[in-house]
Amino acid sequence: MTDIPVITIDGPSGSGKGTISQRLASSLGWHYLDSGAIYRALAYAVDQAGFTVDDNKQQIEELARELKLSFQPSADGGAEVLLDNVNITSSIRTEECGAMASVLAADGDIRAALLQRQRDFRQLPGLVADGRDMGTVVFPDATHKIFLTASAQVRAERRYQQLKESGINDSIPRLFTVISERDARDASRSNSPLTPAADAIVLDTSEMSLEQVIGQVRQQVGYQGL
Ligand code: DC
Repeated sequence: MTDIPVITIDGPSGSGKGTISQRLASSLGWHYLDSGAIYRALAYAVDQAGFTVDDNKQQIEELARELKLSFQPSADGGAEVLLDNVNITSSIRTEECGAMASVLAADGDIRAALLQRQRDFRQLPGLVADGRDMGTVVFPDATHKIFLTASAQVRAERRYQQLKESGINDSIPRLFTVISERDARDASRSNSPLTPAADAIVLDTSEMSLEQVIGQVRQQVGYQGL
């Protein structure tokens, strides 16, 4: 264990955790871990290799351990994801890639193969870690733990907007179905399910604006300037 501070922000997709985590990390000048991007990059690599969980489990675990993944700050304050130096940022943002990531993420051996890679992000002066099991499994000794949630309908609407802004056309009813299926799989798996840590602060953001969520998180973590 180490003294390096970590704030974990867990929750389902569309709960606002990505935006809040990035904003928190940049205002504190801390590192940022988008653990979902690691699962998505693995899903992308598995797809490219033509592997399936049923037929190629050992090869997928090996791929997970050896994935040549790097993150670079992007112009919009987020992060670009590079796999073997190829920019895969927009390719991994589709719902299909998210669904594949969620299937791979249900496997305990695959999760174990990605664990140390995530813990390595804990560097001075501190880390904001965004995911599903940041507060429960990856950083159980985190300084502050937040769990953001929102209704599936609100999250489908937010996702629709987000995709639209990045030039991807989808529909709210379809996104609602995909999101609900992914939530059910992430929450019901036996390995590191999507659930708040016992010592996490749970915030339902369904009726809250981004600024209100930021205000609440600021109050909880006690850091100024967010
Ligand atoms: O946060 P996201 O939508 O980018 O994550 C994609 C999938 O990856 C998610 O449905 C489940 C998996 N995941 C996980 O199991 N644990 C994490 N810490 C982050 C993501």
